[in-house]
Amino acid sequence: MLMINTCLLIRIMELIHGTHKASKFAPQDFITNMPDNVVTNILGRLPLRDAVRTSILSRNWRFKWTMLSQIVIAASFFGYLSQTSYRNNRVRVIDRILLHVRGAITKFFLSIDEVIDDEDINHWILFLSRKGIKDLTIKNWYVTPLKLHTHLFSCLELKHLTLSNCYFNPPPTFHGFPNLLSLNLSVVFEENTELGPFFTRCPLLESLTINDCRKVGKVKLIEIAKLENLKMLSLILHDPDFEMIKSSGTILGSLAKLQELYLDFKDCHVRLK
Ligand SMILES: *[C@@H]1O[C@H](CO)[C@@H](O)[C@H](O)[C@H]1NC(C)=O
Repeated sequence: MLMINTCLLIRIMELIHGTHKASKFAPQDFITNMPDNVVTNILGRLPLRDAVRTSILSRNWRFKWTMLSQIVIAASFFGYLSQTSYRNNRVRVIDRILLHVRGAITKFFLSIDEVIDDEDINHWILFLSRKGIKDLTIKNWYVTPLKLHTHLFSCLELKHLTLSNCYFNPPPTFHGFPNLLSLNLSVVFEENTELGPFFTRCPLLESLTINDCRKVGKVKLIEIAKLENLKMLSLILHDPDFEMIKSSGTILGSLAKLQELYLDFKDCHVRLK
C-alpha cells in the first residue's frame, strides 16, 4: 500500500523547487506533471485535512485536491478543526470542501462523536444525492440518534450504505435503491417503519447487516427471506420473539445464495407455558 503524507510531499517539492534553482539540470517536476488519476489516487489515500493542505504546495497544486472523488471525514477531523481558527465554523468548512469538489463524489464517510445539527448533515446528503454518491457511511457515536431527511432515499445510485445511530424510516414514496449491494444498519426504527416493502425495492442486495439495538422488533425473517441475492446476512436482534428463533433455520434455509450467516439473539427470554 502506498504510504504518503503531506510532510513528505512538501519535502519532495522543496527538493525540486528550492535548492536546485541554480542548476541547469533541475529535475523535472515529476509530481506536478503526474497524470490526474495518479494525483487523485495519492490524494485519496491522505487524511482529508492533508489532502486539502496540499493546496499550499505550489500554484500548480492549489486546486488538485478538488479532483477528489472520495471524502472521508473521521471524527478526529472535527477535533482537528477545533484547534484551528475554524473552531466555530466547522460545518462551513465541510460545506466548502464539498462545493469545491469538481466531479462526482462517489464515496462519503462521516464519523461524528459530537452534536452536529441534523439539518447540516441532511444538506450534505441532498448535495451528495446530486453528485452521484455510491458509497455512503454515516456513523454517529453521539448519544442522540440523527434524524435523517428523506433526501437519503433519493440517492438512487447507492451501492453501499452504512448507518449507525440514525432514525431509519423510508418514506411511502420510496422507489428503491436499484443498485444497492450492501446495507449495514445499526439504527433506530420508527414505529411505522415497514422493512418488507423496503427490502423488495432493493432487488440486488447481497450483504445485509442489521443491529436492532432498540429492540423494536421490526426485523421479520420472512421478509429477509425474499432477498434472493443475499450472500451475507448478519442479524443482531435484541429480545427476539421465540417463534422467530425456532423458525429461523427453515426460513433462512430458503436463501439459495447465502454463504455467510451470523445470528446473534441477545436477551432471549424463553417463556415456558
Ligand atoms: C456494520 O457496521 C458496524 C458499525 O457501524 C460495524 O461494526 C460492522 O463491522 C459493520 N459490518 C459490516 C458487515 O460491514
